[in-house]
Amino acid sequence: QAAEKGGYEHFMLKEIMEQPGAVKATIAPRIKEGKVVFEELGLTASEIGEIRKIIITACGSAYYAGCAGKYAIEKLCRIPVEVVLASELRYSDPLIDNRTLVIVISQSGETADTIAALKECKAKGARTLAVVNVVGSTVAKLADYTVYTWAGPEIAVATTKGYTTQVTVLYLLAVYFAGQLGRTEGEDRKLLTALQALPRQIQQAFDLNASIPALAKKYHASKSLFFIGRNTDYAIALEGALKMKEISYLHAEAYAAGELKHGTIALIEEHQPVIALCGNPAIMEKTLSNIVEVKSRGAEVLALTFRNNQKIVSVADDLLFIPKIDALFSAVVEIVPLQLLAYYVARENGCDIDKPKNLAKSVTVE
Ligand code: G6P
Repeated sequence: QAAEKGGYEHFMLKEIMEQPGAVKATIAPRIKEGKVVFEELGLTASEIGEIRKIIITACGSAYYAGCAGKYAIEKLCRIPVEVVLASELRYSDPLIDNRTLVIVISQSGETADTIAALKECKAKGARTLAVVNVVGSTVAKLADYTVYTWAGPEIAVATTKGYTTQVTVLYLLAVYFAGQLGRTEGEDRKLLTALQALPRQIQQAFDLNASIPALAKKYHASKSLFFIGRNTDYAIALEGALKMKEISYLHAEAYAAGELKHGTIALIEEHQPVIALCGNPAIMEKTLSNIVEVKSRGAEVLALTFRNNQKIVSVADDLLFIPKIDALFSAVVEIVPLQLLAYYVARENGCDIDKPKNLAKSVTVE
C-alpha cells in the first residue's frame, strides 16, 4: 500500500496533489481545433436547442459539484438549471418531460439513490446524461449519454479529484452547449483559455498555501466551523464544509453569507472560526460586510481570496490564497485550499483520513 500511495502519507493527499493532472486529462480530449467537442454525446445542435430545462441530480460531493456547475451553465447557456439531491428527486414526482435534460453525476456510478433517480427520470421521458468516473458502472450503462471524468481511481473515501473533475466536465458542457446554441460568439477563445488555465491554477493554489499545516494547528481544536460565501463562493463553501466534516469530525456548516443575519449570526461569539470565501469579485464587497459583522462579534476570520486583495487581507485574521481566476470557473481551483485545510485539521486530530468512521466510498444502500 505504501507504494500505491506514491510516497504520500494518505491516499487523500496523493489524490489532492493529482488534481492538476486529472483536470488536464478531463479537459484535453474535449478540446479540438480551438473548440470544445463532446464526441461521446450523440446530441445534435437542434436537439440541444430543444432543451428547456436541465436538472442535475446526485448525492454528496457530486451534488455539490452540480451546485457549482449550475452557475456556468445558466450564465453561458441561459437554460434554467435545478440541482436536486437524488434521494429527494426520486420521491418528488419531478416535473420532467422529453425537453428536460437530466445530468446525473456520480464518481462511482453505483450510488443507490442516484441510480434510482436516473431510472425515475428516464421513465418520465427525460434525456439523461451521466457524468461518471468509473468506466462501465451502472449509472454509465443506464444513461442515454455518458461523459467520463478522467480522474483515475480514487481510493480515499472523501472525494477530491472526483469532485474537481466533475465540476470541470460541467464547465466543459456549459461552454459546449452555449457554443452549439450560438451564444458564445466572440468569446470562444477567452472561455477556452480560462478552461485550459485550470490545471496550472490548481498547482498555483498548492504553491500559495504552504501555511495550511500551521493554520490547522490553530483551528483543529475548534468545536465548530462556519463557512460563508455568496454565489459561486457559496457552492464551494458547501463542499469545503462537507470535506471538513467527513474527515475531521468537526461540526462544519456552510451558509450563504447573506443568510447569516437570518440565524447563524446568533451563534457567533468570541473566537468562533468563520471561513469566508471571497473568490468572486462581483460580490466580494458584500461578503466583506459579513466579515466585518462577524468580526465585530469576536469571530476569528480565515478568509480565502486573491493575494493582492488588500481589502480582505487587511481585515482577516488568517488567509488562504487562490491565484487570479475567472469567477465562472472558480470552484475547481478555490476548493483546493479547503481540501488541504480539512486534510491537515484531520491529521492534527489523528483521524483515519482515508477511511473515516461510518462512511463508505460508495453508498449502495438506500
Ligand atoms: C459517498 C462518498 C462521497 C461521495 C458520495 C456520492 O458519500 O463518501 O465522497 O460524494 O458518496 O458518491 P458518488 O460515487 O455517487 O459520486
